[in-house]
Amino acid sequence: MAPTACLLLCLCLFLGGGRARTTEAPKTPGKCHLEGTWVNELGSRMSISALDGEGRFSGSYLTGVTASQNPIRTSGLTGAQRQGAQPTFGFTVLWSFSDSMTVFVGQCFVSESGEETLETTWLLRETVPSHSEDWKATRVGTNTFLRLK
Ligand code: BTN
Repeated sequence: MAPTACLLLCLCLFLGGGRARTTEAPKTPGKCHLEGTWVNELGSRMSISALDGEGRFSGSYLTGVTASQNPIRTSGLTGAQRQGAQPTFGFTVLWSFSDSMTVFVGQCFVSESGEETLETTWLLRETVPSHSEDWKATRVGTNTFLRLK
């Protein structure tokens, strides 16, 4: 091949390669972060503090609904998350206004546009006065949380 043709070919390959690199969409989604304020479809809001080095966190939960007869108050939560771009996590809410507790387990997903969603499943355990009422003490459900802040 003539030196000029070779030079042109190399230039085309170089420019073509450069263009392909700059226009390719990222294939890996961004990282999902639990820290912040979230709202679910029941109107419940929760705030999660910064995570420590082992992925443990604390926060507060203001539920939009209650199975109790008591006025709703903000309650504390503690939990932990695993490592990863779309991490699994779990947390417990010790309700301050009833004698129940709820455990949530879920995963933090992030879309290609960067929108974060927490998909969770929960168990709400109420205190029943007698062993014979144990059968009705636990409710199960799912909640989806979107980031507020
Ligand atoms: C209680 O009623 O004793 C305490 C409040 C429970 C609220 C539940 S927990 C699962 C579901 N998700 C919410 O955000 N609120 C309800």
